Amino acid sequence: MVPSNDSPSHPLLFEQSRHGFIDVETINLPRRTASGEPVTDPTLEQKYLFDTQGWLLVPGLLQADEVDEMREYCRRLHHEPESLPEAQRSAIAGPLERLTDHPFIVGFMNEFLAHPDLTSQDCYGFRMESTSLCVRREGEGIYVPHNGSGLWRMPGDSHHYRCVPGKARSGLTCAVWELNEVEHDGGGTLLINGSHKSPFLPPVYGRNSPLWSTYACPAGSLLLFCEGTTHSTSTWQSAERDRIAIFSRYNYVNSKWHKWQPHPDLLAAMPPKRQTLFRPVHVEGNLVEAI
Ligand SMILES: [Fe+2]
Repeated sequence: MVPSNDSPSHPLLFEQSRHGFIDVETINLPRRTASGEPVTDPTLEQKYLFDTQGWLLVPGLLQADEVDEMREYCRRLHHEPESLPEAQRSAIAGPLERLTDHPFIVGFMNEFLAHPDLTSQDCYGFRMESTSLCVRREGEGIYVPHNGSGLWRMPGDSHHYRCVPGKARSGLTCAVWELNEVEHDGGGTLLINGSHKSPFLPPVYGRNSPLWSTYACPAGSLLLFCEGTTHSTSTWQSAERDRIAIFSRYNYVNSKWHKWQPHPDLLAAMPPKRQTLFRPVHVEGNLVEAI
């Protein structure tokens, strides 16, 4: 078989362990979440922004009543964890579980993270590999810039970013659900535009560097960023409300950075398709069949 290069309108990706190219139009990406909701694909503008900035804000994805229910769960989790069964003391438990494969998360990860050979209508092409609840009061949160230059990281680092014309792959990718309003420069995550691709170390010498970008958003918004983008915590400014945010990371099916697994009882109670987010970390045969 002679591989063909005559498909100029599509990006070219090599097949895994075979002699040919992938037809990117026929990858079997899931079109519904484990809850049966249709997947929301990122728009061309959202894809462009994520690729050029290294991060993307999607304001107001969640409904107000959903946010109320989730915030109340976070309050219990933070202040009264003993009021919950052990398996439920997690930022992916209760009403927070459906955030793991929210329709926009699936659409975004289909685009930027899914393995073409390890995805089907019953099996996600990516993994979820950590989660944590962040509750921050006024004055809390320490400036700690880290990461960057994801285009140039060595294989195995996880904090990398790769792109060819028409296609991009974000390695370790962070999803932050902001469950309270965030004011501009009020303590949301700080990010340096384009640093996920930069061959240079960013010349920032403090929190006040003009290179830092940040955002404002209503409660129920989603921030996505490549962990290969330089970013930092920022001090929370509001005395009226805490920062309440769920930080979750996603990665390739065959790569893992964090030492974390969901509680086995929590995992066992999830729908089978959602469980595929937490399957073993390897390639060969790692496509879960429908039960
Ligand atoms: Fe980080």
